[in-house]
Amino acid sequence: MRKLIAANWKMYKTRAEAEATAHQLVSLLGTVPDGHEVILFAPFTAIEATRRGLGTTAHMHVGGQNLYPVAEGAFTGEISAAMLRDCGADWVLAGHSERRHIMDESDLLVSEKTAFALDSGLNVVLCIGETLEERESGRLEDVLRRQLDSGLKKVPSDLDPDRLAVAYEPVWAIGTGKVASGSDIVEAHAIVRGLLGSFLGSKAGHIAILYGGSVKPGNAASILNLDNVDGLLVGGASLQAESFAKIVRPE
Ligand code: PGA
Repeated sequence: MRKLIAANWKMYKTRAEAEATAHQLVSLLGTVPDGHEVILFAPFTAIEATRRGLGTTAHMHVGGQNLYPVAEGAFTGEISAAMLRDCGADWVLAGHSERRHIMDESDLLVSEKTAFALDSGLNVVLCIGETLEERESGRLEDVLRRQLDSGLKKVPSDLDPDRLAVAYEPVWAIGTGKVASGSDIVEAHAIVRGLLGSFLGSKAGHIAILYGGSVKPGNAASILNLDNVDGLLVGGASLQAESFAKIVRPE
């Protein structure tokens, strides 16, 4: 299975900063390692500049961090799938924990975003993950089942599995410096793989499952080697081209 290494730039970078970071990343990497795909999830205003910074380098993609699941209309402050594609995005995040917990996005909205984005030609990284309280009260599997069940409910049955990835990001490990242990990651990814099988059947084995939460150059390679880890979603350590390049191509 290919490895997807994704950067989530969140609400960082102007157009000039994004273009320079993308360009520097290309210079540092030369080419993307065999069997890998790199995705940079840039702020909306910097998607076009990020695309320009990447030039025509193969296996490097740009994505948006959110969208509204309607073609167009009176939705002040929102952005459509067509607008993202127009700027050069071919991927989008759905259900990132910051949107679920800070913007109060519901499972239903995440489900509609996932289906609408896929239907509009965007590829999707569907993000799921439990809070510390949910984990400590023994509800890990229930939370992952609920988020995946709703997130995948409206996904068409004939979907090309290359167009969808799931990112397992324990909320307590995002931006905190607390990385989940190898055994926590293996356990959660096995649960996700099993649930994907029950919701999507034989396609499940071909859907990339990414880990996210305090990934750094020092831990990326060992996490990527774990069972059922097909990629990484990296926040803080993706903001500097040098550190993200070391995650994409460990020394
Ligand atoms: P982090 O963020 O790497 O800074 O923990 C990950 C994410 O939010 O996707």
